[in-house]
Amino acid sequence: MTVHGADSVDEAHAAGGRLVVGRSDIVTPLARERARDLGVEIVVDAGGTSPAAPPTPPPPASRLADPLPAAGSTPAIPRTATLFDSPPPATSPSPALHRRGAPLPPQVRIDRLIDDRAPGPAAEPVGRVTVVGAGNVGMITAMRLAESDRIDEVVLVDIAGDRAAGIALDITHASPLLGFSTRVRGVRTLAEAGVSEYVVITAGKARTPGMSRTDLVDTNAAIVGALTADAVATSPDAVLLIVTNPLDEMTQHAWQVSGLPTDRVIGMAGVLDSSRFEALSALAAGVHPDRVDAVALGSHGAEMVLPVSRATVAGRPITDVLPGPMIDELVDRARNSGAEVVGLLKSGSAFFAPGLSAARMVLAMIDQSDDVLAATVAPAGQYGITAGYVGLPVRLNRSGLAQIVEVPLSDAELAELRGAAASIAERVQALDTVGARPLDTVGARPLDTVGAR
Ligand SMILES: NC(=O)c1ccc[n+]([C@@H]2O[C@H](COP(=O)([O-])OP(=O)(O)OC[C@H]3O[C@@H](n4cnc5c(N)ncnc54)[C@H](O)[C@@H]3O)[C@@H](O)[C@H]2O)c1
Repeated sequence: MTVHGADSVDEAHAAGGRLVVGRSDIVTPLARERARDLGVEIVVDAGGTSPAAPPTPPPPASRLADPLPAAGSTPAIPRTATLFDSPPPATSPSPALHRRGAPLPPQVRIDRLIDDRAPGPAAEPVGRVTVVGAGNVGMITAMRLAESDRIDEVVLVDIAGDRAAGIALDITHASPLLGFSTRVRGVRTLAEAGVSEYVVITAGKARTPGMSRTDLVDTNAAIVGALTADAVATSPDAVLLIVTNPLDEMTQHAWQVSGLPTDRVIGMAGVLDSSRFEALSALAAGVHPDRVDAVALGSHGAEMVLPVSRATVAGRPITDVLPGPMIDELVDRARNSGAEVVGLLKSGSAFFAPGLSAARMVLAMIDQSDDVLAATVAPAGQYGITAGYVGLPVRLNRSGLAQIVEVPLSDAELAELRGAAASIAERVQALDTVGARPLDTVGARPLDTVGAR
């Protein structure tokens, strides 16, 4: 296996414009972007080796028995059965909707409102995604990524003995059940994981009784900082997705430590918080969850902003469908959903929806899906914010953050969002980081504005 970086693309460009890669080779996100910029065609050699590539050490030996066949050699996976396999109803059974009795306008979702620019090139599978922390969240993330069959190898890393190897073996045992051929490996360090295109960091401690928030921040900052440094040393071209809490601070801390541009260090929170609000609203309105569209911005905590002006149920403003006090309750419940789950579980915190949310973001990058998702990113002027990392609507691509998307918000929502950014920035300043770095580059991108309803 050879790793092709931007240098390989430059060489291919100088030599005539084609980069021939082997089936098991890794082409880094930066290399793909450079190839697009230079018009270099990336061709997969059917023989499976990259003729011009220098020899590289083999990937670390799998802790599992025999590696599964490479992705692509098996038929497409069947879709997993879900609660929601039946198509969404054409109209809402919501009593509120029926009371109003108006015909439904076409459904308008934030992720489908955006311009109809040309789709990116057909997305090929990627070589390797590493998930650090094989705890509750990490194992669900790894499971979903493996099941997607869009990645040659998913590697779990955990400091706790052979836990990662055990989870990896367990996931592998599910491959015939789910029909995926992703190789899944578990190791103890990022160096053993090998060069990865995406590194998802879920490692960290949960708050225990008697531990202050500051104690948690310091403990997890030390863990996330050390792992970020290891990730960059092993995979300098990777995109980092941070999941560890407190999310807003940890994402900016990881960016500080990494030395990477802001568009390659992204935090996961908004996908989860949006999903929680959508799920609760769908239950309240009695509609299929796919008929609810909302976005959660701001912080992953008390300053979470759920712009009601953007939320729709079956294509109608949520305020036309549900009574105001009920919407307020839903916003509050979504904001406190993490604590509600913790209260029920008694030990540990939520992991199904969080793990799936992290996987959703990685897959959106791999597939260049063009969906607009909420993510914790560093704006440079969008929404009038330059203070640091905060949850905003974005598009992702193989290289990380492609674009911060500006959606119209009410004055009150915008003020709340700016307040959230300022509060996060204050907390980040209180964190003992490795020295301030100026936020960079993203603001150079054109601002997008989604047409108002
Ligand atoms: N961003 C979000 O929306 C969101 C949602 C849920 C949970 N979280 C956070 O995700 C993190 C993980 O949650 P969890 O439920 O999986 O916790 P968990 O305790 O089940 O798993 C954490 C894992 O990290 C491992 N770990 C600790 N230090 C490590 C290191 N230096 N290197 C490698 N592995 C290490 C532990 O051994 C453990 O297996 C927590 O910080 C939690 O608060 C974030």
